[in-house]
Amino acid sequence: MKIAIGCDHAGPALKAEIMTHFDEKGFEYVDFGIQEGEKADYPDKAKEVCEKVAAGEFDRAVLICGTGIGMSMCANKIKGIRAACCSDYFSAKYTRAHNDANVLCIGARVVGAGLAIELVDVFLDTQFEGGRHQRRVDKISELEK
Ligand code: RB5
Repeated sequence: MKIAIGCDHAGPALKAEIMTHFDEKGFEYVDFGIQEGEKADYPDKAKEVCEKVAAGEFDRAVLICGTGIGMSMCANKIKGIRAACCSDYFSAKYTRAHNDANVLCIGARVVGAGLAIELVDVFLDTQFEGGRHQRRVDKISELEK
């Protein structure tokens, strides 16, 4: 699985913790920045990363801003993106199982690194259940037209 990760200026420290975890697990990922000391507006970073996911260059993405909300609002404007802002384990699991979410947004000012890593892990590990949920996800795609 190819993973993209990016953040605005609220997120470099949490992004670094998540990337250390990816390194330990041997996950394949690309860091789209930004790094500590840099500045980025979350709509720009969401667009940069999500266009790569929508184009099929990455299977999933993790986006981090202060709340996770700005990133998720922007990500969901990109056709083909189903982004979820999660700060609890259940939501991170079921947005994969039921919504087939492909982007996880996390608030660096909302959750600590320990929980963030749990959220990322369950998001990456959980398979879409399909079945009746496929019909609903198809209806999300219809809304994009
Ligand atoms: C940046 O200061 C902050 O507004 C942003 O990271 C995010 O929380 C927006 O949703």
